[in-house]
Amino acid sequence: MTLHSVTMTINGEIEGATVPSQMTLLQMLREELAITGTKNGCAAGECGACTVVVNGEAVNSCLVLAVECDGADIMTVEGLAHDRRLDPLQQALIDAGGVQCGFCIPGVLISARVLLDHNPQPSEQEIREALVGNLCRCTGYVRIVEGVKEAARLGTAV
Ligand code: FES
Ligand code: FES
Repeated sequence: MTLHSVTMTINGEIEGATVPSQMTLLQMLREELAITGTKNGCAAGECGACTVVVNGEAVNSCLVLAVECDGADIMTVEGLAHDRRLDPLQQALIDAGGVQCGFCIPGVLISARVLLDHNPQPSEQEIREALVGNLCRCTGYVRIVEGVKEAARLGTAV
């Protein structure tokens, strides 16, 4: 088994790990670095629970190898809150009742955060398109979409 030393910035901190060639970014985050907010739903690119930001784009971390991310700038759901305060998007989702079991929410938040960073005033259609890869078995999506709309309305995207 070939091992690789990788270094990346995760939530603003420099992190290093030694990983086998086939280890995914999701596995590295959860199993090597114990950054477990990112969830493993399907490990096959279907559910979006593992969505993280890699160099400004939302990606399924179960489909990306850790070695491919050497030198990358990564943000996980743990990177959203600052100074023990939730990102306004997180609060808006809670306030809208968009969080039920919560399993999908780390991925939803990341996809929505990337959307709002690129497009601070998205239409409902654009919100739904941005979240199309994030499956939620609880909410029926309506309240999630309402939460993202409210975050946009409050001008929380920067
Ligand atoms: Fe990656 Fe489901 S765990 S898409
Ligand atoms: Fe349960 Fe989305 S809140 S899967």
